[in-house]
Amino acid sequence: MYFIGIDLGTSAVKLLLMDEKGEIKNIVSREYPLSFPHPGWSEQNPEDWEKAVKDGIPELIRDIDPKEVRAIGSGGQMHGLVVLDKDDNVIRPAILWNDGRTQKETDYLNQEIGKKKLTALTGNIAFAGFTAPKILWMKANEPENFARIEKIMLPKDYINYRLTGVHCTDYSDASGMLLLDVEHKKWSREMLDICGVREEQMPKLFESYEPVGTLTEEAASALGLSEDVLVAAGAGDNAAAAVGTGVVGNGGCNISLGTSGTIFISSDSFRVDSANALHSFAHADGGYHLMGCMLSAASCNKWWMDEIIGTTDYAAQQAGITDDMLGNNHIYYLPYLMGERAPHNDPAARSCFLGMTMDSTRQDMTQAVLEGVAFGIRDSLEAARNLGIDVKTSMICGGGAKSPLWRKIFANVLNIELTLPETEQGPGYGGAILAAVAAGVYPSVADATGKLVHVHGTEKPDSQIAARYEKKYQMYRKLYPALKSLFPDF
Ligand code: XUL
Repeated sequence: MYFIGIDLGTSAVKLLLMDEKGEIKNIVSREYPLSFPHPGWSEQNPEDWEKAVKDGIPELIRDIDPKEVRAIGSGGQMHGLVVLDKDDNVIRPAILWNDGRTQKETDYLNQEIGKKKLTALTGNIAFAGFTAPKILWMKANEPENFARIEKIMLPKDYINYRLTGVHCTDYSDASGMLLLDVEHKKWSREMLDICGVREEQMPKLFESYEPVGTLTEEAASALGLSEDVLVAAGAGDNAAAAVGTGVVGNGGCNISLGTSGTIFISSDSFRVDSANALHSFAHADGGYHLMGCMLSAASCNKWWMDEIIGTTDYAAQQAGITDDMLGNNHIYYLPYLMGERAPHNDPAARSCFLGMTMDSTRQDMTQAVLEGVAFGIRDSLEAARNLGIDVKTSMICGGGAKSPLWRKIFANVLNIELTLPETEQGPGYGGAILAAVAAGVYPSVADATGKLVHVHGTEKPDSQIAARYEKKYQMYRKLYPALKSLFPDF
């Protein structure tokens, strides 16, 4: 018996085949383009996602009997606005989670509707990447497109729609639209009115581990699977990643180092960050979570390596950075390549290096990039600490977690223990686990993760390195406030 996990990411879709014991049997990846039509904008074509999934799954299942595949579950990039017309055509490219075009609409929501009311209706305030400000942007800037909208959905829901014909979403992903009453798990009529949309245009809501339907005849034949394969509602990629690292129930923590960087704190009960730095969302296990999200994490290192240094050998660039150098670097890097979400909520923020001298080296700057991202996550950890949440240990996953140096920097900057799961394929593994629960193989998400998720090793902080980083962090946190007023003119 097999389950397929789909990690619908920003640079690629990663497909994973898991057996009922939780063993990964195959992984296939397909890249697709990402376009930045204006500085700070970020778009993708939903049809490219569908093509990548339909192209990759036949290869994923090439060596098994396809009749053995029971269910599919996804973890998808969150917040992206996907709109279809009455004939199910995609109206315009999806506006992604890291798109910063909606400053005006975000200000309107936070200032005129008001943060207090937004929090009462949804549990959250507006951030530029959330879906509701994008709907308002489309209404104001593309009224003809807006008038054609028949269905609104999120990225992984578009895949589920194409696979099953069911217009659905799950509570974890829907939380990031700013249209859901997160605590009570229903669409907020008032928020829909504020954005000028009707409930009929919205997807049907499910728990992440519930089946939404089975494959259509067309999808089954395109994938080489049988029509009785179940499709789980799936989850936003961070909730799926948390499932994939076993962070369910109360008080667990997962750090995900992908294109974005997130810190995810699971909870049995709904709670709101009164300082509004952390999002208050539903979890894929039926509970809730708090999350801080930085928009550019592993993407800062990718940008530095690919675009600036011009290398694909990231490990070679990190090889000379030794323990005695950690916390002794006097260069700082601010990781705001796409503006910043948590904790600054500022689409105008920009990246910079500060503190170089004539003896500064490329290696110092490489180190500063890795450290800047860790300091960014520390900002969100501090927001959690301000709420009285005592995080002593966390799971860590995502492409960036593969670097032993980066894991060491994170453990010391955060001064907590970091545990690496056996598979760092967080969202895809979580998606496959949700599929197994939807198929009834496990009675609950917690039961499944308890049996399937195993740990690989733990990175412990070193008291001397952590003390050096503590001083550096106190300096780092002064930099954004000092530069904030300049960023809009860049
Ligand atoms: C979370 C967020 C990102 C995307 C990345 O709020 O915007 O983590 O989900 O895919």
